[in-house]
Amino acid sequence: MFVVGGSASQLLSKELAKALKCKLARVETKRFPDDECYVRIDDELDDKDVFLVQTAWPDRNIFELFLLQDAIKEFDVSSLTTVVPYFGYARQDKQFMPGEPISARALARLIQLNTDEFITVDVHSPTVIDWFDEISAKNVAAYPQIGRHLKGTGVELILSPDEGRADNAKRVADVVNCEADYLVKERIDGETVKMIPKKLDVRGRKVAIVDDIISTGGTIIKAAEQLRKQGAAKIFAVCTHGVFAGNAIPKLEAVCDDVCTTDTIENPKTCISVAPEIARIATD
Ligand code: R5P
Repeated sequence: MFVVGGSASQLLSKELAKALKCKLARVETKRFPDDECYVRIDDELDDKDVFLVQTAWPDRNIFELFLLQDAIKEFDVSSLTTVVPYFGYARQDKQFMPGEPISARALARLIQLNTDEFITVDVHSPTVIDWFDEISAKNVAAYPQIGRHLKGTGVELILSPDEGRADNAKRVADVVNCEADYLVKERIDGETVKMIPKKLDVRGRKVAIVDDIISTGGTIIKAAEQLRKQGAAKIFAVCTHGVFAGNAIPKLEAVCDDVCTTDTIENPKTCISVAPEIARIATD
């Protein structure tokens, strides 16, 4: 068994190789002067079960993923499982306006062309899994690891920033062994959200807001501001995928006591690994 790590998922690849007790392949990756990507795998992968790990965001990492799939398939591998820890474009899972692509489906179709199995983590739209209609595809949940991390912080209440993710907050809370609730969010546009005031028992308590993605940070910032007004003693922001568009990190740090993400996207706030969950489902 071998893990091949794409340049966007080096941390997670190392952790996954440890969890699977297998080797991490040597991979050379570089960009030509015209920005075209070059990859080369410097290990023998014939007859091996191979796990390729590469986050599919931003676009340049998606193309590197396709090149790595192709390089792996040039060997006579026993199997290739493509692990895409963060599946970009999952928010465009339907046509919102005529003339648009279904971007998430386009990406799923392309990944499926050159792999035997597929694994992703906390995919924003579960429909994505259905588009892998010719191979086995699995969506791994990060909540056990997020819960384990939060258990050590003394958090007393887990909040989802909207009702849609309330189940996930409850699952995290069950691991921590504390209460869960949700906030009420109204999205105005891609960059603006509004929190509808809701009575919550947060005064003097340590609370965590848990979401799947932090992109602009708008959702968490509005939620944290509301919780602060209601007297929360400490606010932790935790998400699976830390996209952190623009200057989201300093804006979040200004309103939250701590910000933490998993390693599906490597960023300065990565402090939780989802490798144990991927390894568990991969060896099921
Ligand atoms: C929305 O449905 C997602 O679960 C996240 O809440 C959203 O993507 C966060 O985006 P932002 O950080 O830009 O508010």
